[in-house]
Amino acid sequence: MQKTKKAIVFGTGSFAEVVHFMLSKDSAYEVVAFTVSKDTIKDTTFLGLPVYPFESIESFIASYEAEMFIAIGYAKMNDVRAEFMSQAKFKGYKLLSYLSSRAQHWKDTKIGENVFIFENNNLQPFVEIGDGTILWSGNHIGHHSSIGKYCFITSHVVVSGHCRVEDSCFIGVNATIADDVKIAKKNLIGAGALITKNTDYAEVYTGTKATILNKTSDRFFQ
Ligand SMILES: CC(C)(COP(=O)(O)OP(=O)(O)OC[C@H]1O[C@@H](n2cnc3c(N)ncnc32)[C@H](O)[C@@H]1OP(=O)(O)O)[C@@H](O)C(=O)NCCC(=O)NCCS
Repeated sequence: MQKTKKAIVFGTGSFAEVVHFMLSKDSAYEVVAFTVSKDTIKDTTFLGLPVYPFESIESFIASYEAEMFIAIGYAKMNDVRAEFMSQAKFKGYKLLSYLSSRAQHWKDTKIGENVFIFENNNLQPFVEIGDGTILWSGNHIGHHSSIGKYCFITSHVVVSGHCRVEDSCFIGVNATIADDVKIAKKNLIGAGALITKNTDYAEVYTGTKATILNKTSDRFFQ
């Protein structure tokens, strides 16, 4: 794809590495630099690109020269990503969003800033995705459902139709939200959990864990 825009990625962890990969392979953005807080810089380059201190990033690349993506995961229930998004905006940077060419969606899907949507997400009609939300690979977001700001939806999550996931939630792999359910702010929905009723602020849910059989595998598939 032709590169028409420049991007600075905040972070030098594995999420930042994946963001660099996706933007390079599947977007109009050329990643030109990384940035992190000054006291966390371990190396002056990452993936062959310069790493600049975030505190003075504007003296290296001005906000009119490049957009920024804050590639921070769900630390402190997404508050760290939200805080650096706010600081980057205060410095004047536009926060870019990425929607994989391998995701399914409709052209009028409302997607906020600093949103990253990986491959095989299926966004049905009338879905809205708030600022700072990450949809890792393979989720289903049902029709008329909205995901708030600063959420982290991991992989193979099913959000059924007419749901509302409020701000700063984490939803673990293979979790299922039944239709017409509201997930309250700062909820942590564990891997494999099934949620059938509205939840309350900052609750944590887990599903049913696997049980171990008192047998060894050599007894099977003879
Ligand atoms: C909910 C979660 C954060 C709980 O974390 P945790 O620190 O492992 O929880 P604990 O160790 O205190 O577990 C308490 C009990 O709940 C069980 N449990 C934890 N998470 C569970 C889950 N998702 N489903 C079923 N049982 C679960 C544990 O096995 C443990 O049971 P035990 O007391 O009988 O041994 C975590 O299990 C989880 O689901 N994380 C999300 C994983 C994920 O989606 N990762 C993708 C990242 S990109």
